[in-house]
Amino acid sequence: METRQQIRSQIRKIRRNLTALQQTQAERLVTRQALHFIEQHQAEHIALYLSFDGEISTQSLINALWQQGKSVYLPVLHPFSQGHLLFLAYMPTTQMQVNAFGILEPQLDIRAVWPSEQLDIIFTPLVAFDQQKNRLGMGGGFYDRTLENWQQKHFIPVGLAHACQQVDMLPVESWDIPLFDILIG
Ligand SMILES: Nc1ncnc2c1ncn2[C@@H]1O[C@H](COP(=O)(O)OP(=O)(O)OP(=O)(O)O)[C@@H](O)[C@H]1O
Ligand SMILES: [Mg+2]
Repeated sequence: METRQQIRSQIRKIRRNLTALQQTQAERLVTRQALHFIEQHQAEHIALYLSFDGEISTQSLINALWQQGKSVYLPVLHPFSQGHLLFLAYMPTTQMQVNAFGILEPQLDIRAVWPSEQLDIIFTPLVAFDQQKNRLGMGGGFYDRTLENWQQKHFIPVGLAHACQQVDMLPVESWDIPLFDILIG
């Protein structure tokens, strides 16, 4: 079986090579499914992420949610609890900065911090997934820590992915947390 690092680099390369048309179509598909999922679950407080490295763009979903008056949150690297995420409110006026991974995140503002227990849905990025809804991320363990024991919490974790990110069977480690669902664009 391929190692986790091999799967990461293979899938990331395939994902970066998707055409602009494939990206646009995937964004449209996944936005529609996500809006449907949000409506079904009557979710109001929704964590998303800003896409990079060929991930399906979340921008039209975020815009639609803002229009619907939903609250959108983005992950921010925790300033002192290493390996952990904070979720901050994200609005069109939110001041952004580039984090250590080169990803845009809201500037840390205590007033904007929202406890993850009060989120309704956490949409997660992922590099690869399988039919059992196992998730392989970028390798930081950030979402594994956030999603620990999610069945006992209020939020539902849902991945967003291109079809080309699916693999037959992911090698799973004891700390990996499977998702509730994965929406495929
Ligand atoms: N709940 C946890 N508590 C402590 N360490 C953890 C936990 N979850 C993951 N880790 C550590 O994080 C490291 C990376 O984990 P993993 O390879 O599963 O990342 P990933 O799921 O790909 O990343 P991410 O969730 O950030 O997208 C591992 O070395 C693992 O020991
Ligand atoms: Mg993991």
